[in-house]
Formats: sequence, structure tokens, C-alpha cells
Amino acid sequence: MSNLTEQPPAIRLEKRPDGVGILWFDTPESPVNILSSRFFGDFAAALDGFEADPSLRAGVLASAKPDSFIAGADLKQFVGLDAAQGTALVTEGHRLLDRVAASRKPIVAAIHGVALGGGLEVALACHYRVASEDPKTQLALPEVQLGVLPGAGGTQRLPALIGLAAALPAILTGSRFKARKALKLGLVDHLTSPRGIVDVAARAALQLAEGTLRRKPRKPTPLDRLAATGPGRSFILGQARKDVLRKTRGLYPAPLRILDCIEAGQARGFRAGATAEQQGFGALVGDSKGKALIKLFLAMTDVKKAGEHLPPPRRVSRLGILGAGFMGEGIAAVSMSQNTVVLKDLTPASLGKAAKNLDAGLAKREKSGSLTRLERDRQWSNLVFSTDTQDLAGCELVIEAVFEKLELKRQILADAEAVLHPQAVFASNTSALPIGRIAEGAKHPERVLGMHYFSPVPKMPLLEIIVTDQTADWALSTALAYGVKQGKTCIVVKDGPGFYTTRILAPFVGEAMLLLEEGADIEALDKALKDFGFPVGPIALLDEVGIDVGAHIARDLGAAFAERGWKTSPAAAKLVDAGYCGRKNAKGFYIYPPEKKGKSGKKQVNPEVYGFFGGPARKSFPAAEMVDRLALLMVNEAVRCLEEGILGNARDGDLGAILGLGFPPFTGGPFRYVDLVGAADVVARMERLKTTCGDRFTPCAMLVEMAREGKRFHED
Ligand code: 3HC
Repeated sequence: MSNLTEQPPAIRLEKRPDGVGILWFDTPESPVNILSSRFFGDFAAALDGFEADPSLRAGVLASAKPDSFIAGADLKQFVGLDAAQGTALVTEGHRLLDRVAASRKPIVAAIHGVALGGGLEVALACHYRVASEDPKTQLALPEVQLGVLPGAGGTQRLPALIGLAAALPAILTGSRFKARKALKLGLVDHLTSPRGIVDVAARAALQLAEGTLRRKPRKPTPLDRLAATGPGRSFILGQARKDVLRKTRGLYPAPLRILDCIEAGQARGFRAGATAEQQGFGALVGDSKGKALIKLFLAMTDVKKAGEHLPPPRRVSRLGILGAGFMGEGIAAVSMSQNTVVLKDLTPASLGKAAKNLDAGLAKREKSGSLTRLERDRQWSNLVFSTDTQDLAGCELVIEAVFEKLELKRQILADAEAVLHPQAVFASNTSALPIGRIAEGAKHPERVLGMHYFSPVPKMPLLEIIVTDQTADWALSTALAYGVKQGKTCIVVKDGPGFYTTRILAPFVGEAMLLLEEGADIEALDKALKDFGFPVGPIALLDEVGIDVGAHIARDLGAAFAERGWKTSPAAAKLVDAGYCGRKNAKGFYIYPPEKKGKSGKKQVNPEVYGFFGGPARKSFPAAEMVDRLALLMVNEAVRCLEEGILGNARDGDLGAILGLGFPPFTGGPFRYVDLVGAADVVARMERLKTTCGDRFTPCAMLVEMAREGKRFHED
């Protein structure tokens, strides 16, 4: 007797009268299809039924979920796997997909929606691939971003299908392909509309069975011809390895393992490559770096639900943006696909510049195939350029992105309030000005909050939302929902000097200034932090952010936290007085050679700046000491933010530091870093630094308590 609580199978076989068996994927109790041991078992059973039935001449793999083919392997299951279990899991997947590939009856994948990771690998094992020409259809092997490798045959089947030269960047970056691009690459064979996709796939399957349809071989490119020779292949793989080492500084094991698997397959055949893949997957999934990256992804998914306990968000049909500078333009770029966007500035000239850039951005996306002409026109028609505050009437959300001047922001808020509906949300895009101070004197302080975007807005994934004691829950919920629509990972923090991200960045950059005062070398300092895993060094970062901005923040936060020993170098302010603002005015710590053919040359240290730090003679500091001084101050400040309630939880602190500031992602963030090395170790290192460098290295009470009690921030 069947158990009433038993779940239905994840795959069911529909036998059609035309002789096609449709294997419908439908993972129970999940919005998307996910590969797991259970899924493999059900898949095997469905394949048994398909193969054994002589009335079925061909098969189709399709999804019963709306707008999603298969989202890949179960990442939640990965968290608990050790290396041996990881290898065993993917070996099972290999056996199954080898069966699909070897099936005497042709099997066609009908791909509508995302086909990611193992989901794409299922499709790669099929004999033919039909995809829907729909923006929701996206194909990728994103495993490298999760610190693992495609473990269900992807490192072997993708190069075989689209060629080594095209497969390498796809696997090594995990980039997503829309349907048209996938067709161009040879990743799919035919495009159709989403509605009739299963019928089109079934027809193709029957034609393959009858021999009236064959996959069109891809036209070889010059690189394919090069890859067809032994030395050519070695050259391409060697270049790829060099490129990976340059970009990752050898800190990420996954791309190197991926290259090993591809190389094994190319040199010794599919079996050897597949075995390397199974072993490599296990090693990566069992490693702390892989685990940290998987948990980071799960945290990013989890945080999407942050608004669930709040009142429903207000629908935003009209967004107002005040200030058409670089930030305002960026916010418009990530919003214009959603609704009407009113971009307001004082002069037609600033609006004209923003319009030109936004138009160029749309044109670029159309050219790359990620937008249709129709979609480009639709998004452009959503933009309203205005110099009149009255045009903000009717906006449900207004984001100001004007200069970082308190008085100006207050004035902008007062002007906006004069025309806004009382239930419109007013957000300030500021990196450090306290929201409560901006809201002082507002008619409706309950609708004022901060939306701190990072530059450049379209590229940076984080949005830090700042609430004051007065901000209403409905206003927060509206900002959160809108941030998610803009594709951002949103963390919510409390108002306070520097909120969270700026507050933990300030001592990090401040310590870099102090080290320069003590004689450290600019390049050596930047290199040490990059070798630790930051994408840019602290000095190069200050050049990017602006030395003037940095000096301003250092002054304000330095004053706010002076009583607990924060130390601020006066050098940044002196540099600003002497006209050094960083990259934006080509007067910074580095000299940036002009771009040639869109590529920037290697930057050189500007020797003049050493004049502000005691002269050109430089001292050598151990890299580990420089890293500890900067990174531990950031970690300690992050923990303080949790202690003071600026952060609601450690998860948000990890997300903010990684996605906003580039804290090394493979550590999992400052809180997971403490868990990894142990709070006692962090406290001991800080105490040592306190004796040599001063009170700013005093570990905060929460860290000390965790060290004493052997506690962790995260349970998993
Ligand atoms: N594993 C486990 N759960 C997953 C999942 C996965 N691969 N993909 C999605 N989910 C779950 C989410 O956790 C969420 O669960 P919840 O409702 O309980 O919170 C639910 O599906 C919906 O996900 P989102 O909230 O993220 O929904 P979106 O519509 O915003 O995005 C998505 C959907 C594009 C599928 C996105 O979730 C995504 O990118 N998923 C991960 C895709 C991926 O990286 N796949 C590769 C996995 S590694 C692999 O396949 C290894 C193989 O080679 C062996």
C-alpha cells in the first residue's frame, strides 16, 4: 500500500500516441526543478519505462514548472557533503546522463526558462536541443561562481558541442546565454516560442528517429581549427591557465580544476575527463572555499525573503530620481525596464549627458543580443527627462542622488515633499550622511530612508537600505521590493555614522594611510591585500572612491568614534588641499596611462604622493602584518555593528562586506571568517596588534565573549 505522505516522483513519463515519450520534470514542493539523489532515482525509473516501451520511438525532456527548465543540482544538499560524498553524488549523475546520451531512441531537450549547471548538463546529454526564444530562457554552467565545477559531464560535453575555444570562457566565467546567443554558439539547435515548445521538440525527436533530421554541424572557426591540433590545444589551454592565474592570483581552486578536467578529456578521451570531473567535483565541494561560496549564494537567495514579515510593498509605477550624475544615471539604468522613470536635474545639459549614456547602454545590449529592438524601445520610452520638480507628482518612490551635502539633501527632500503624495517613499542615496539628520524637519519622516547604491550601479550587486527609528515598515517594504526588482541583493541596516559598509570600510582605508605614514610602499600594500583576496588594494580603492570622499568620511567617522581610539591620518586631507582627488581628476596615488583601444595600461605609483607620507624612502612590512592590520580592523568593526544592532544578523554583514566592498568571497565574509579561524584566534591577533599599534585594535566585547565561550556566528 502506498504511503499517503509519500511525495510524487520528480519525473513522470507521458506516453503520447505519436510514439514520443515526454519525461516531465517536476520536483515536488519546489518552485524550480532541482537535481538530487532522489531526482536521479526517479529519472532512472522513468528512463526504464521509456526504454522498455516499444511503442515509444523517441523522447523529450521537458519541465512541468512554469518558466524554469532545471535550476541545477541541489545546493542545499552540497553544504553537508564531504569530498567522497560529492564524488559519489556526481558519479551517479554521470551514469544517468551517459544513459541518456547512449539511448538508441533519440532524446530532445525542450528548454524553456533557466537551464543552469546540472540543468544544462542534462540538456547537453540529449541528442538535440530546442529552446524557447524568451527572455526567461537562460543557459549557463555557473558552477565556477559557486567554487565547484560542472560535475555532470559539462566539462566534457560542452567543449565537444561548441568547441574548446568557446567552451573555455563559458565554463570559466559561468556567463549566462540567452536563446539567440545559445543558438549562435551551437549550444542549442532550434528556437521556437514557449507555448508550442514540447510539440516542436517531439516533432524533432520523431524526425531524428526517422533519420529525416540531423544536427547541423557547427561551422568551424579558425580557433576550432587551431584546437583540432595537439600543439594548438595545448596553446589554448596554456593561455587559459595563465589568464586564470592572473585573474584569481591562484586563490580560487575551481577554475584550475576545471582546466585539469578539460585537459584530461582532450588528451585522453571522454572517460578520463569524466573521471577527473567526478574527483575534482568532490575535492571542491568538500573544501572550505567551495562551501563558503555555496553558502554565499544561499544567503543571497535567503535575503530575498527579508520583506516577508513586513506589510505589503506599495506598487511603484513611477520612480523619481533626483540628480542625473553618474549615480542617478546608474539607478535609472537598472530601473527603466520596470516602470516609468523620471530623471530630474537642474540643467538640460546634465540630462542630455545622462540620456546619451543610457541610450548607448541600451544600444550595446541590443547589439550583444541581450535585448530585442522592441524591448530597447520600450525601455527608452519609460524614461522622462525633466528639470521640473512638479514631474515628480505621482511617483511612489523617489531616490535622490545629489552631492553629499547635508543641507542640499534636506532642501531636495523639502522640495520633493511639496509635490509628493504622503505615502510616497523618499530615499536618499548617500554613503555616509545619517538619514535621521536628512529627515530632520521632514513633514513625513516615516517615509524617509536610505538606499545606498554602489558604483557603478549596474554592475555592483549590493543595495544597503538604511532605516531610522521613524521609518515606517511599509516604506521599508516598498524600498526592499523595488531593490530586488532592480536585481540587487538588499541588506537592511540601522541608521548611524557610516551605516554598515562605509563604517567598516573607513578603518580599513584609514589603516592603509597610517601604514603609508609609517613608511609602507603603496604597491606592496595593495598587493598584500589583493593576495589575501580583495579585488583591489586599499590605495587603488581610495583613488577610485575619491580621496576627497575618503577624507570627508574619515573626518566624520573619526570624530564619531574618536573616544575608542580610532586614529585618522591627516595626510588624506592634506592631499585633498593640494588638489589630489584620485582617479576622477587624474591626480591620485597612481598615474593612469590613457586607454588604448578600450584597454587601460598598467598604472604606476605617483612618486609625488610620498611627499605627504615622509618622503620616497620606503620600508618593507611583512604582508601578513599589513593584511592583519587592515582586515582585522574591518572584521572587528563589522562585529561591533552587530553588537550595536546596526546589523540585524551576521548573514547581512557577510553579504554587505563581500558584495559591497569585495571582502574575499571565498572566506564567506567577515563573520564566516571569524567562524573559520576561530574568534579566539582573531582576538589574540588583535591583542598583539593593540600592544604595538594602539587602542584601535581593542577587540569588541562580542568578539571577546565569543572567543571565551567558543561560539560561532553561523550554525552551519
Ligand atoms: N538548489 C537548491 N535550491 C534552489 C536552487 C538550487 N540549485 N535553485 C533555486 N533554488 C530554490 C531557492 O533556494 C528558492 O527556495 P525557497 O523558495 O525555499 O527560498 C527557490 O528555489 C526559488 O529561488 P529564487 O528565490 O532564487 O528564485 P528566482 O526566480 O529569483 O531565481 C533561479 C531562480 C534563477 C533558478 C536562481 O534561484 C538560481 O540562480 N539558482 C541557482 C542556479 C545554479 O547556480 N545552479 C547550479 C547549481 S551547481 C550544479 O548544478 C552542479 C552540477 O554541475 C553537478
